[in-house]
Amino acid sequence: MAASKPNAGDVTDRNLALELVRVTEAAALAASKWIGLGKKNEADGAAVEAMRKAFDTVEISGTVVIGEGEMDEAPMLFIGEKVGAGGPPMDIAVDPLEGTTLTAKGGPNAIATVALAEHGNFLHAPDIYMDKIAVGGGLPEHVINLDDPVAKNLQNLARAKKCAVSDLVACILDRDRHKELIAKTREAGARIMLISDGDVAGVIATTMPESLIDIYLGSGGAPEGVLAAAALRCVGGQMQGRLMYEEESQRDRVRSMGHADPNRCFTCEEMAKGDVMFAATGVTPGAMLRGVKRFGGGAITHSVVMRSRSGTVRYIEAHHNFTQKTWWEAP
Ligand code: FBP
Repeated sequence: MAASKPNAGDVTDRNLALELVRVTEAAALAASKWIGLGKKNEADGAAVEAMRKAFDTVEISGTVVIGEGEMDEAPMLFIGEKVGAGGPPMDIAVDPLEGTTLTAKGGPNAIATVALAEHGNFLHAPDIYMDKIAVGGGLPEHVINLDDPVAKNLQNLARAKKCAVSDLVACILDRDRHKELIAKTREAGARIMLISDGDVAGVIATTMPESLIDIYLGSGGAPEGVLAAAALRCVGGQMQGRLMYEEESQRDRVRSMGHADPNRCFTCEEMAKGDVMFAATGVTPGAMLRGVKRFGGGAITHSVVMRSRSGTVRYIEAHHNFTQKTWWEAP
């Protein structure tokens, strides 16, 4: 990805990407207290509250565009909520705990995540489903197409990767609604990694050479789709998503969010435009991030911070001393 130098007057100050990580660290630390306790709502609530408080230290005038739900159903980080300590106007996509059930069960790949872009640059999407397809970087343009049969996408990807379809691994959420997709993927000859939750990590895994995953297929949350697109904008990769509707009111809500055609297929660049920053902190261990390690008086977190303009990906290991924290409740 071509890197351009930031101008002095740019609203997206370089340090903002690094500020973001404090927000995901706070959410992950709070959620980590609930790992394996079987209480997904409590884990989620703790992450949301900690992330909300941590945003007060970030010098932006932020508006949540991808959040915890609509204003009347989410007490914090609802769509439209203003966050930040004041500064450049930015749009924010949050998932304070991506993998609530994973956390409750102590399963892998739960993360706290946030993305930031200049105003108007994220796809506005309510909490409905999105059909998704994604692959990593370094591949010819248009190698995937959401409207093509799965076998064609797998054949095109195998050709681009100079391998056989049987060498490919597709990541798919293990859901009844994916029975046909799973059958067709197997019929086409590809192998599958079924995940129980956490499709943001599943999509990002397509970009990581050390992961087994070559392609992400299937439907999951639309907010998670936008967050995954933001990450792919930073590290490279291709993704397409189309919003899915279970009732007509959802289509109306999407229209009211400014989409003239609610059935359109969005590319990664359309879901997260311009200079995008993405941060995630591991709650439980996964392929991308280690989980929170708690010990007496502190904890260690492992995070990733990315920025599309520079293409820089930073992994940050933070050692937290709870006796000196002032702005959130750690222990
Ligand atoms: P939560 O953290 O909100 O539980 O979401 C986990 C998740 O697996 C997402 O990664 C995914 O996009 C979505 O749920 C899929 O939804 P569903 O469980 O309804 O299939």
